[in-house]
Amino acid sequence: MPIFDSHAHYLSDAFDEDRQEVLSRLFADKVCGIIEAGTTADSSRKALALAEQFPHLWAAVGIHPEEAATATEADLNTLRTLAQHEKAVAIGEIGLDYHYEEYCPRDTQQYWFRRQLELAREVSLPVVIHDREAHEDTLKLLQEFKPRGVVHCFSGSVEMAREVVKLGMYIGIGGVVTFKNARKLVEVAAEIPLDRLLLETDAPYLAPVPYRGHRCDSSMIELTAATIAALRGISTDEILDIAVHNTRTLYSL
Ligand code: NI
Repeated sequence: MPIFDSHAHYLSDAFDEDRQEVLSRLFADKVCGIIEAGTTADSSRKALALAEQFPHLWAAVGIHPEEAATATEADLNTLRTLAQHEKAVAIGEIGLDYHYEEYCPRDTQQYWFRRQLELAREVSLPVVIHDREAHEDTLKLLQEFKPRGVVHCFSGSVEMAREVVKLGMYIGIGGVVTFKNARKLVEVAAEIPLDRLLLETDAPYLAPVPYRGHRCDSSMIELTAATIAALRGISTDEILDIAVHNTRTLYSL
């Protein structure tokens, strides 16, 4: 069954030794698509360069909230240019991270989040949202801008998931759903409409059980899908299929 990884970071130095081999192996096996998420203007440019090498890899271009402290107007202009690239499918990952507030103050994060929501609207691309311990402010901005897109690595409550679904957005679920302490996310995975589900890894991070703590790659999505399938009483293949369909729909692929 095909796997579409809607969110990964293969540019991470965790893949410096074997990036080409890992990606070639994944695409030769079950993986039919990967979205590489940029975190700065520079990494977004590199994500597109990687996408040029692999026909089934696409990129999201954006400035991550942890990187927002050093963002500049020139960076935003770079993103505007990169967004025109034929393999740029989203503005992301963008959003708010109050866990890592020491990297960037809240108001600066909010400023660049807003500017990039405006950019997404301007260039008519969906958004990839990062929300960590900032659920209320994230939801407020999503309700204001009503973008197309996904809340990646969803960590909010089932009530927040309902609001995100109401906005017509997708919920990205990764390896965390397999963790022992994932009670809230399990509730979300059991309840959201299946036509709103995207599967992701956030590789090299958040490998599902039994690989928790190890380097993650897109093939491990099968374990995440199996967990969700058990919750929903359908087969793993059906979950994988639905997620492929949803990812292609969101990104027009
Ligand atoms: Ni990410």
